[in-house]
Amino acid sequence: MHNIRTFRKLKKKTEKIVMMTAYDYPSGKYVQAAEADIILVGDSLGMVVLGYPDTLKVTLEDIIHHTKACRRGADDTFIVADMPFMSYHLDLETTKRNAARLILEGGANAVKLEGGSEARIAAITAIVGCEIPVIAHLGLTPQSVYAFGGYRVQGKKEAGFAKILKQAIDIQAAGAFMLVLEGVPEELGRVISEKLQIPTVGIGAGRYCDGQVLVYHDMLGMSDFVAKFVKEYDNLSDKITSALGQFCSEVKAGEFPAKEHVYNAIENNEDIK
Ligand code: KIV
Repeated sequence: MHNIRTFRKLKKKTEKIVMMTAYDYPSGKYVQAAEADIILVGDSLGMVVLGYPDTLKVTLEDIIHHTKACRRGADDTFIVADMPFMSYHLDLETTKRNAARLILEGGANAVKLEGGSEARIAAITAIVGCEIPVIAHLGLTPQSVYAFGGYRVQGKKEAGFAKILKQAIDIQAAGAFMLVLEGVPEELGRVISEKLQIPTVGIGAGRYCDGQVLVYHDMLGMSDFVAKFVKEYDNLSDKITSALGQFCSEVKAGEFPAKEHVYNAIENNEDIK
């Protein structure tokens, strides 16, 4: 399993870091089998698993519950748990307690939080001060959707570009060991990745980040909305619908169960398998 030192070594060796989201036992198991370097139990779970329109309603209890399940499926992979909206925005005592719960109860190895304002830097410093590794997240931070007035690419204009670059530098100084960059121009992703010693992991941040992350349901073709930066590696949505539909029609037609699916009274001591 990786640790915060080995991630930095990967950057030094210019070996790309692979992060994928997972939210439960099966997705954790599949992502670990695919040999991802790091699993993110993201608050995207609100949209892709819980059916909310955005990530804002996800609670700390939701993330703990899903991180626990993911850990059962991925016992040997570094897991980072997202800090949900308003779990790190109040006082620093609450922030530290919430981060600690994700580690102690959820079984995560690190936490992630969004933003680079002074208040967020204070939160990062406080959590790192508890010996809890922190990943920061800049750019199109989904918890700021109302403040941004929608899901809009960030850092396109000069002032925004400079602001995000400064925040990235501050975040590194505050002790974050990795930075997720989302929804920014490729040029900004490149400049930040070159400037920082800590690895950057991009999602819609271009080709020059030190690693890439995608949301499990997006890359498997199971999401309602597909952003420009997503590559769908399969379309499981169609496959699942077709398999379930086949079961429905076979039951209606009396074709399932067939002879090979039934137990026979003459054969004793059969195990149900
Ligand atoms: O919640 C999430 O899945 C994320 C990724 C999009 C980086 O934060």
